[in-house]
Amino acid sequence: QEHFFLKQDLVGKKALVTAGPTYEPIDPVRFIGNHSSGKMGLAIAEELARRGAQVQLVLGPSAVNTAVAGIKVVKVQTADQMYQACMAAFAQTDIAVMSAAVADFTPTVTNPEKIKKTAGSLTVELTKTRDILKALGQEKRQGQLLVGFALETNNEQAYAREKLAGKNADMIVLNSLNDEGAGFGYDTNKITIFERGGNEIPYERKPKQQVAHDIVDRIVNMLYAQ
Ligand code: CTP
Ligand code: CA
Repeated sequence: QEHFFLKQDLVGKKALVTAGPTYEPIDPVRFIGNHSSGKMGLAIAEELARRGAQVQLVLGPSAVNTAVAGIKVVKVQTADQMYQACMAAFAQTDIAVMSAAVADFTPTVTNPEKIKKTAGSLTVELTKTRDILKALGQEKRQGQLLVGFALETNNEQAYAREKLAGKNADMIVLNSLNDEGAGFGYDTNKITIFERGGNEIPYERKPKQQVAHDIVDRIVNMLYAQ
């Protein structure tokens, strides 16, 4: 019952959400990407907007779209463009949720012309990208809430706790890839939320819309408790 009631508990708040993959160009026709659909981040942006927040969604290359009012979509391609868009918006933000699957490495140089297959092998040198969540964690001021995700295949609890502390986040949403029917390409997710202060809340596997509802409930809880 309560789930269908429209809770306008984020009126007057500004939110920044990242979603989707990034594409890192090798040459004009090729890139390094990943399987992120952008659905989880979109569901969070929509849930925040439905509850009254003014949302900026920084979206990597993704087919998703929204009809929900109150969401400004900024489309980007690369990790660096996503970083710039987030840094520009963060000072004005009350809630930041970094759900994008940002490339960790990008080609050191982008070949200006299409690379030909003439050579017998091809080596592409990669350079580490900037960590957007960590950068925002360093900029964070009193009253701002920063949420990250963790995608792990092993030692997931320990890695999630490490990300919470190491990136100065207030909440890490651990996405269990091991679970059947969760993660990339599925419309359901199984998460555990790790909160600053030590709360660890496991959830059942459920549709991404309901997962978004659970996450935003915890965000609202922490926002008004601090
Ligand atoms: N993230 C980010 N910028 C990056 C890389 C990651 O903002 N360049 C964010 C993701 O959006 C996510 C969190 O950091 O909220 C964790 O991402 P994840 O890939 O799980 O962890 P990494 O810190 O990149 O470490 P690793 O991939 O080695 O586990
Ligand atoms: Ca990563």
